[in-house]
Amino acid sequence: MKTEVVKINKNNIDSVSIKKLKKAGAVIKSGGLVAFPTETVYGLGANAFDPTAISRIYAVKGRPNDNPLIIHIADKADMDIIASNIPEKARKLADKFWPGPMTMILEKSDKVPTDVTGGLETVAVRFPDNEIAKKFIEYAGGFVAAPSANISGKPSSTKGSHVVSDLSGSIEMIIDGGSNKIGIESTIVDLTVEPPTILRPGFITHKDIEDVIGLTIDSESIDKDTEEGPKAPGMKYKHYAPSAELILVSGETESVVDTINELIKDDKSQEINVGIIATKETAELFDSQALIRTIGESADIKTIGHNLYTILRDFDKHKDIKKIYSQTFDQDGYGNAVMNRLVKAAGGQVIEVEDVNKRRDIKTVIFISDEDTSRGPMARMILKSQEDMTGMNVLSRGLDVLFSEPVNPKIEEVMKNKGLDISDYRSTQFTEDDITQDTLFITMNMREKIAILKKYPQIIYIFTLSEYIGESEDEVITPFGESIESYYDLFDIIEKKVKQMVNVKE
Ligand code: TXA
Ligand code: MG
Repeated sequence: MKTEVVKINKNNIDSVSIKKLKKAGAVIKSGGLVAFPTETVYGLGANAFDPTAISRIYAVKGRPNDNPLIIHIADKADMDIIASNIPEKARKLADKFWPGPMTMILEKSDKVPTDVTGGLETVAVRFPDNEIAKKFIEYAGGFVAAPSANISGKPSSTKGSHVVSDLSGSIEMIIDGGSNKIGIESTIVDLTVEPPTILRPGFITHKDIEDVIGLTIDSESIDKDTEEGPKAPGMKYKHYAPSAELILVSGETESVVDTINELIKDDKSQEINVGIIATKETAELFDSQALIRTIGESADIKTIGHNLYTILRDFDKHKDIKKIYSQTFDQDGYGNAVMNRLVKAAGGQVIEVEDVNKRRDIKTVIFISDEDTSRGPMARMILKSQEDMTGMNVLSRGLDVLFSEPVNPKIEEVMKNKGLDISDYRSTQFTEDDITQDTLFITMNMREKIAILKKYPQIIYIFTLSEYIGESEDEVITPFGESIESYYDLFDIIEKKVKQMVNVKE
């Protein structure tokens, strides 16, 4: 199918533009599909009362058909045609926020076919605030069912060119109205339940809504309590995702930058090309070997939201990029909506980097090394022998323990001469069961730390031995095959560091 692309300037809708918009309206009335801009993201529209056109939307997007569509209107009064038993709170919200980036879930009227609602008895209604959208909806008959105009699972389209790349050839028309003002999908509020529930955060925040109708609940908090599935059917699918693997790193900015740079080093050694989503403040702190995209100033969440999907889509153009790292952003207010999309795009992968300077109550210390036959058990015994270690569980574990065995004989000899008997110790493999909230993990070098974080990103309190005591990168390495003197040196190095560990704790 040949897709007609028409460009319209939303700030100057002249008579030529009106003609184009009337044509787009006629396409909808005759059962066709038209992509159009709104203030949030682009929509892929069809006549809401035409089940055949609706089914084409699902086919074109590759969208599961239990995931309902939003019906877009261009006149507040039209909500009474598609919804019934509209509560007073819904009217208040409409008066305050429409036209604008808010969608309401209401009881559907008999006029609405269940093809649009994914079989539900409720309907999503939205009155967008964009001059092109308003006129187009009006010329299309007033009721345009539309999901975001992207292939299912991909980031929403926030520019005409995004729609063209996803949908050209499979729909009748694309109205290119330039870059969307907001760039993140509308806030969805379910008014069929009491208290009303926010199913999807957006530019209009929880607080904005509570200021108008009082107590409202976030569906995220409901999910956590009841472990029910998310209530907006669309929220259960992996969403907004770029082709490359996206990994978020969260924590104090300086530690986040350091960690990402370490991760890149490791990826580079495996010849993996990486991309980075940086802020104006951090962009030049990252390893320049990575493809760096600046999303905005860290305090300017509106700009960050506006640029997010464009950046994710931009990485898709670089086929060689296999991983993308991003810092996280402040979750206050609208930041909650932006982070919601970023976390979903990352499939929930977030590495938490704890501020090295922040200490907390720990009950267990685990030293981690590759084989758990030299440095780790040595560090463990030294720490255990320090004063004040009563009540502290001190262990060591290995990343690659093929079978449990005694420690390296030279280690055993050195330890014995230092009055520490380690002959009974047997190497032990690290497992997920070792991860608890009150455990401090200490690796001997950065490579081991990265290896473990990659496998278990949920570990928060992990440092290299040098890092923990505030020394710069200084790896503890076993002098395999060297003389016994080198092992005494190793003991001295580890003992010095471990003694400092105890001081840090105080
Ligand atoms: O900003 C927006 O809302 C954009 C523009 C185009 O208006 N549209 C949009 O549509 O994001 P879509 O289909 O990508 O997301 C709509 C979400 C889905 O998660 C869907 O499950 C939910 O709304 N939804 C639709 N009808 C619903 C209903 N009756 N009950 C609960 N959730 C519903
Ligand atoms: Mg969508």
